[in-house]
Amino acid sequence: MAEEVKRSIESLPGVGEATAEKLREAGYRTIESIAVASVAELHEAAEIGEGQVKKIIAAAREIAEFGIFVTADKVLERREKIGLITTSSEQLDTLLGGGVETQAVTEVFGEFGSGKTQLAHQLCVNVQLPREQGGLGAKAIYIDTENTFRPERIRDMAVGLNLDPMKILQNVLYIRSYNTDQQILIAEKAEEKIEEENVLLMVIDSLTSHFRAEYVGRGALATRQQKLNRHLLTLHRIADLHDLAIFVTNQVMARPDIFFGDPTRPIGGHVLAHSATTRVYFRKSKGGKRIARIFDSPNLPEAEAVFAITGQGIRD
Ligand code: GTP
Ligand code: MG
Repeated sequence: MAEEVKRSIESLPGVGEATAEKLREAGYRTIESIAVASVAELHEAAEIGEGQVKKIIAAAREIAEFGIFVTADKVLERREKIGLITTSSEQLDTLLGGGVETQAVTEVFGEFGSGKTQLAHQLCVNVQLPREQGGLGAKAIYIDTENTFRPERIRDMAVGLNLDPMKILQNVLYIRSYNTDQQILIAEKAEEKIEEENVLLMVIDSLTSHFRAEYVGRGALATRQQKLNRHLLTLHRIADLHDLAIFVTNQVMARPDIFFGDPTRPIGGHVLAHSATTRVYFRKSKGGKRIARIFDSPNLPEAEAVFAITGQGIRD
């Protein structure tokens, strides 16, 4: 499977160096991204005839093996390899079916201060725990788009679990991202690091902030959505290919009409609806408590969990 990652877009018929370059500039760096693109999108991006574009997409679809059947026992075999990372809150773990899953993209959405970044930090510590203690004995990658990563918190959380803070800090690979293009590139480049080092968790905090800032207004919504979808597709592929847990955050505004409608539907719509494997909604509650709730999970019941953010990290 790993070979698939390395297959370059130049291997597609009719894609020479110049065309490949144009495609990459437009954000199409993998065969999968071309396989799911529309003819109009590619036509515009690469400045090639529509007939040619159709051929390229057809070839990409074939190579990306879209529509190949596997038997359910193979699916089960793969699902049995799913790893779980504890959140340090039993209630939250239970809600998540044991913890944050590998081979999946988990999205936490909620208003400011609801604990999304705190959980992201906690997972970077917990992924390093041995398997018997709810970890995966592996490293974490942290892609920070909002400059809210705090190594001091990692240190405090490590101490809270009686771990050597220096060692824990050394196993968190940190990178700051300044815009959407860079974020997409970093996620793709991260694949090399994941192969080189024993990384089993990748955090993007936040997944959506740059997309929101760069694509403003109704007219830009479709473009933003398309680009974000491509990015998510990359994330799913990485999670699958490397048995990795991907944890992303997404800030949504609390609704003023909370008493009359669905409080979880943010103004402007859910940009990520139905694209993460597991979606969890965080909200603030009385006495500094936080309430988590599962949304649209294929295998988890819609339930709620209560947790707290303490000096030592996430707790029941
Ligand atoms: P946005 O990124 O603004 O959308 O918010 P977020 O959901 O990422 O919130 P975040 O995870 O940053 O949560 C911030 C909250 O965590 C604070 O309001 C505090 O309640 C709590 N918190 C952060 N650091 C500490 C700490 O050192 N000790 C304790 N006890 N609580 C903390
Ligand atoms: Mg945050």
